[in-house]
Amino acid sequence: MIDTHSHLFEDEFKEDLDSCISRCKDNNVKKIILVGFSHETNLKAQELSKKYDIFYPSAGLHPSEATINYKDDFNKLVEFINNNKIYAIGECGIDYHWTKDNILEQHELFKLQCELAIKLDLPIIVHSRDASLDTFNIIKSFDGKLKGVMHCYSGSLEMAMEYIKLGFYISLGGPVTFKNAIEPKKVAKEIPIERLLIETDSPYLAPTPYRGKRNESSYVKLVLEEISKLRDISIEELDRITTNNSEKLFKI
Ligand code: NI
Repeated sequence: MIDTHSHLFEDEFKEDLDSCISRCKDNNVKKIILVGFSHETNLKAQELSKKYDIFYPSAGLHPSEATINYKDDFNKLVEFINNNKIYAIGECGIDYHWTKDNILEQHELFKLQCELAIKLDLPIIVHSRDASLDTFNIIKSFDGKLKGVMHCYSGSLEMAMEYIKLGFYISLGGPVTFKNAIEPKKVAKEIPIERLLIETDSPYLAPTPYRGKRNESSYVKLVLEEISKLRDISIEELDRITTNNSEKLFKI
């Protein structure tokens, strides 16, 4: 298995990162995309990836980082990427959950990262919250030149199919295991299997039966198990396909 989205550099793992990683190995989780979202976490992702070979780092600026200084921040990101090996740009995107005050900066910062991803031929890891139409319109404006993944996708099946038409992958995490997750379960069941990825978003969004607790990358197994039931396909076969999809997108 590959956990395509985790933040294991967070303080929640300070005490027991080594045992978290050995639980990954015990559970057949072989690779983890370690996703930065700010200057500080991009650096942490790099540092940890040098220490543990299970990690593949990304770098990006989350919409909550979009301030009036977004141009300077973007330039700093470009410089960082020029000096460090990364496997994806992100997470980045649009988020109206907390505020819409910086809508212009959010859009500009996201578009700049999309352009950079195209220029560097890297996939983009997209975060979209309460902003599905605006996120989609920006991605669509790049005319299929952009490739990437909709991380912890929570939108409709129809929208997922539109992203897939643009060449995107759909990644599902802990919420697909929740009893009341009608739409994510529908997406898990219906989207083309060759565009499906799995993730944890650790330490957030732990799957059932750990809902509300700290999430960790070995729990990606629970996401895989749930989707295998929904699609009526063996765990081994689904693992083989989603692992293959992840390796193809991130070139890992
Ligand atoms: Ni995340």
